[in-house]
Amino acid sequence: MSIEKLTKLLKIQYPIIQAGMVWVSGGKLAAASANAGCLGTIGAGSMKPELLKLHIQKAQSLTKGSLAVNVPLLYDGALKQIQTALDLGIKIFITSAGSPKKFTKMLKDVGCVVIHVTASPELAKKCEAAGVDAVIAEGFEAGGHNGRDEITTMSLIPQVVDAVGIPVIAAGGIMDARGIYACISLGASAAQMGSRFLMTQESSAHENYKQALLGAHSGSTRLAMKNLVPVRLFENDFAKDVEKLDSAGASKEELAKLLGKGRAKAGMLDGDVSQGELEIGQAISLAHDIPSVNDLVQKLVNDYSKIAASIPSSL
Ligand SMILES: Cc1cc2nc3c(=O)[nH]c(=O)nc-3n(C[C@H](O)[C@H](O)[C@H](O)COP(=O)(O)O)c2cc1C
Repeated sequence: MSIEKLTKLLKIQYPIIQAGMVWVSGGKLAAASANAGCLGTIGAGSMKPELLKLHIQKAQSLTKGSLAVNVPLLYDGALKQIQTALDLGIKIFITSAGSPKKFTKMLKDVGCVVIHVTASPELAKKCEAAGVDAVIAEGFEAGGHNGRDEITTMSLIPQVVDAVGIPVIAAGGIMDARGIYACISLGASAAQMGSRFLMTQESSAHENYKQALLGAHSGSTRLAMKNLVPVRLFENDFAKDVEKLDSAGASKEELAKLLGKGRAKAGMLDGDVSQGELEIGQAISLAHDIPSVNDLVQKLVNDYSKIAASIPSSL
């Protein structure tokens, strides 16, 4: 286990990474997370370079803490996003949804830390071979786009830990200190949390969306669009329409047409909780409040110590 190695590398106090999330993790959330001692991540996926620039500058004006930019490689414009972030002095990049070979060397050559997201031990090995500093092993429970292999966090983390020699960051279904403790027990060096940080005052998820999530129950999410890009969604009218199309064996084109262009923005940023696309993780019903990031992180830290003290040191 290399928790200290990773916290030193990322210059963070706690082994907690606030996840990059399209439409949700802008400069305000990233700065609040960095100020609370975590790695604050700006989700560039939904941003044109000019907007990304504003978010990075805003975050930098609000914190001296550690900031990263998440660049999903499935969108056009990833290179421009990376160049924008580099120009503004960003040194930590989290890449996802594409080949780890694409930008790792270029970023390492200019002295950056590179972390790539994987949903399988096989891809984790490729990430290591590509030269990344760490991998984020993201289980099937996670919100947002999901691995096709459907490997849960509990199964994935030890397999990835056994497969690579670099630090492994666990993600998917981690909502509280119990989840962090569990993932560290499985060999992870840190926890990346998305859905729980979405449910904070500083995230840019629309208030309607946050309120709807307060009513979540254990079966409120589903994996949709397996034929297009698998994504975990909160149950709403849009998700039901997608499910109908999915079970009728719809083609990629039909699914893409229903998804349209602005569904994710309409749902997550603009608050259309009926017809918008609402990405969220499977454990969301564990979030019962919408705290400030600082209060959330303090509770995670305090609860973690209590758990550690209550676990017998031998069986
Ligand atoms: C609303 C939302 C948007 C997301 N967008 C991205 C993204 O742009 N890039 C990415 O690599 N992961 C994205 N993710 C996945 C998160 O980075 C993180 O790995 C995931 O949320 C962890 O699972 P959890 O939600 O159960 O904590 C997103 C997740 C959510 C909930």
